[in-house]
Amino acid sequence: MFVGPNGYGKTNLVEALWYSSTLSSHRVATDAPLVRIGAPRAVVSTIVVNDGRECAVDLEITSGRANKARLNRSPVRSAREVVGVLRAVLFAPEDLALVRGDPADRRRYLDDLATVRRPRIAAVRADYDKVLRQRTALLKTATGGRMRGDRGVLDTLDVWDGHLATHGAELMAARIELVNELAPEVVKAYSLLAPGSRTASIGYRASIDIGVLDIELLQAALLAEMARRRDAELERGVCLVGPHRDDLELRLGDQPAKGFASHGESWSMALALRLAAYELLRAEGGDPVLLLDDVFAELDAARRQALAAAAASAEQVLVTAAVADDVPRDWDATQVMIALREDDSGRVSAVQT
Ligand SMILES: Nc1ncnc2c1ncn2[C@@H]1O[C@H](COP(=O)(O)OP(=O)(O)OP(=O)(O)O)[C@@H](O)[C@H]1O
Ligand SMILES: [Mg+2]
Repeated sequence: MFVGPNGYGKTNLVEALWYSSTLSSHRVATDAPLVRIGAPRAVVSTIVVNDGRECAVDLEITSGRANKARLNRSPVRSAREVVGVLRAVLFAPEDLALVRGDPADRRRYLDDLATVRRPRIAAVRADYDKVLRQRTALLKTATGGRMRGDRGVLDTLDVWDGHLATHGAELMAARIELVNELAPEVVKAYSLLAPGSRTASIGYRASIDIGVLDIELLQAALLAEMARRRDAELERGVCLVGPHRDDLELRLGDQPAKGFASHGESWSMALALRLAAYELLRAEGGDPVLLLDDVFAELDAARRQALAAAAASAEQVLVTAAVADDVPRDWDATQVMIALREDDSGRVSAVQT
């Protein structure tokens, strides 16, 4: 349990761990804010123990350039190789965006979880993002129908359609499979947090019809939809078809959570999504580390208790709080007070009590 005043670096600690688990921040979309202003790079070093085996993960984050990573002190070719070593689930105030925010927030929830479970998804995401960028760039050069008759552009577009369908279908399949497994866990978690309330449910909403889960069928459906909407895409210069347009639908009873759920219900939904993720990871080997950033202050007594119960059975939990009283009293937790260094270097030092 990390306790300290606002702005002393508690979230910074948790974010560093989350970053070394997923290679992305839960707070910001780019790497620049992760590097201390004026410093050339940020470094995150962790020692992870899985099944009694120690693994040292070192990450070097340089804004605007590829990250460097080492596993057990040996450099690896791509930072992505460290994904999955530290399996973690993070719950933070930012999670309200899972319910109230844009589809992009929910896609990221799915993709981050899919990646922690199956590290090879990191490559699928990277491939898809690349294809999406390049296909969008091509569409932009042809916006407004200027090049519509240009055979060269159309042939190139056909090639990119193929790439988008290949990687897009893989990404969609991973998400749909994940949502199928998550769905019953979300129902359970929500009813634990809000007993007697309406049932929570989730579903994957795609820009194409999904019948049975089959990669080749998804590919064909993506290709068909791109062909159908080609004129609109050329007109607007954007990719209108693919998993980057999809959403994770959250419902309470028969209403969509977004726009209808109350503040507390939205919180419970967000928390249910995280607890469901935790259960999925836990079911397949090794308890994930549970990271709880400043969450108890936001919850009412019943929800606090439900979260505390889930956390109590976890192998390792890191909790941050500005006020120690916000954390359940009966927790037998090691308390670490966060204080500024006396030399005023701005660094955080942890003083154990
Ligand atoms: N890139 C950066 N360079 C320098 N300082 C930064 C950078 N990014 C964030 N900070 C500062 O680091 C400090 C620590 O932030 P952090 O979010 O970890 O605090 P916290 O202890 O979680 O606070 P709270 O209790 O309010 O949540 C903040 O004052 C923040 O403004
Ligand atoms: Mg904080």
